[in-house]
Amino acid sequence: MNNSSQISFPKKFIFGIADADLQVIGEQATIDNENSQPTIWRNFAEQEGRVYKKHSTNEGIDRYHRWKEDIGWINKLGTKHYRTSISMARTLTKDKKVNEKAILWYKNYFSELKKQGIHIYATLYHWELPQYLNEQGGWTNKKTIEYLVEHSKIVYKYLNEYIDEYFILNEPWCSTFFSYHAGDHAPGEKNLKSALESAHNMLLAQGWVYKELRKLDKNIRLSTVYNPVLAYTTNPSSENLAARTYAQGYYADWFLDPLYLGKYPKKMMDVFGYSFPKIEKGDMEVIKIGDKLHSFGVNYYYSALVEFDQNRDVKFKDIVNPKSILNGLDWPTFIPPLYQEGFYDLLMSLYHRYSEFGMKRIYITENGTAWKTKKEKDGTMNDDFRIFYLEKHIQQVHKAICAGVPIEAYFEWTLMDNYEWQFGYMPESCFGLIHIARKTMKRTPKNSYYWYKKIVKSNKLDLK
Ligand code: FCB
Repeated sequence: MNNSSQISFPKKFIFGIADADLQVIGEQATIDNENSQPTIWRNFAEQEGRVYKKHSTNEGIDRYHRWKEDIGWINKLGTKHYRTSISMARTLTKDKKVNEKAILWYKNYFSELKKQGIHIYATLYHWELPQYLNEQGGWTNKKTIEYLVEHSKIVYKYLNEYIDEYFILNEPWCSTFFSYHAGDHAPGEKNLKSALESAHNMLLAQGWVYKELRKLDKNIRLSTVYNPVLAYTTNPSSENLAARTYAQGYYADWFLDPLYLGKYPKKMMDVFGYSFPKIEKGDMEVIKIGDKLHSFGVNYYYSALVEFDQNRDVKFKDIVNPKSILNGLDWPTFIPPLYQEGFYDLLMSLYHRYSEFGMKRIYITENGTAWKTKKEKDGTMNDDFRIFYLEKHIQQVHKAICAGVPIEAYFEWTLMDNYEWQFGYMPESCFGLIHIARKTMKRTPKNSYYWYKKIVKSNKLDLK
């Protein structure tokens, strides 16, 4: 560390920016212009009580038409590293053929980014499940695996020349447990058995995409993105400590252990019991690819604080310490006494647990916070809570690097306010460095945009 008020990151450390296709594109435009397939999220939003004010993915932030302007905003931020996703609802026709019109759009977008010297990190599945696959069981149906594999091969064939690194999945916990068990995300099921089945299928899909793309190219960088947390309990009674173990298994180990160790965590038998997924011969070999990934992507927003709960199938419940600092979505971003250290603890524990099984390097593929922007009299867009949050969390990344964790990149979530899943376009749910006026789609940088720009440029963080 240089001095007490400024910290420096390694020379090659990457400060980038992230978003995802379905949250920004404007789905209606892709349906009208490309004949793309409607997504599960468009359908979900039409149902009563699912998404804030039934906001739809149809509008997004009109990236479909405004992509040139938006590349300008990436350029002005100064970063050369951009993570986004490529939607299988766009690239694939219903009979698994290539949708040329969608490919053309991505080619235009990506070639312009490359012309500006911007590296592209492409997520192959950021929850853009076509609704027709959902109608056939979605991720509980093994057929969905074939579609994701086909999509990935099409992406490789037509777009590989632009892509620097692939992330096969984004947050499989969210698109399985949160979607099929908690029911908060599309398709909104509340069934543990479906959740476990879908998780197994998604891990298989991850393994198959790896295998198929590796067959096509020995040199491409294949990685993936999870949102693991380290779970804590409030007071360490034996019941609470057991609950902590289950929460850890539920939120993280269920997805990490198969990837790096080739097996599911046994301790979860206590709570998953008869719902355990059916594992066919050879499945775990397909799934265990952790040691072959170029990087492991970590998305982090906050840690889990849990207590024992006899009445819940998973035997734990999340609790919020009343002294927590909540973000716009009431997420307890700073949980006394953990505060931002949860991020550091997570990075340390992840690396120390899995490095001996082949985890080579970590990227922070998402970190940021939701906050309603306040327009000041002088026209500035005040989102100082975001700056506070980012400063504290980037500092923890630095601390983990100094403690020997090989973290090579940090992608802030996100460039522009966008569709925040079940919260739609609710002002409190905005994560962007750039404000979007919903009626006009006008882009206006917030204070945090200028603040992050300095970090991107200097690779240094000033501490307040
Ligand atoms: C993550 C998602 C991302 C975004 C942030 C806030 O879970 O990967 O799309 O919605 O949360």
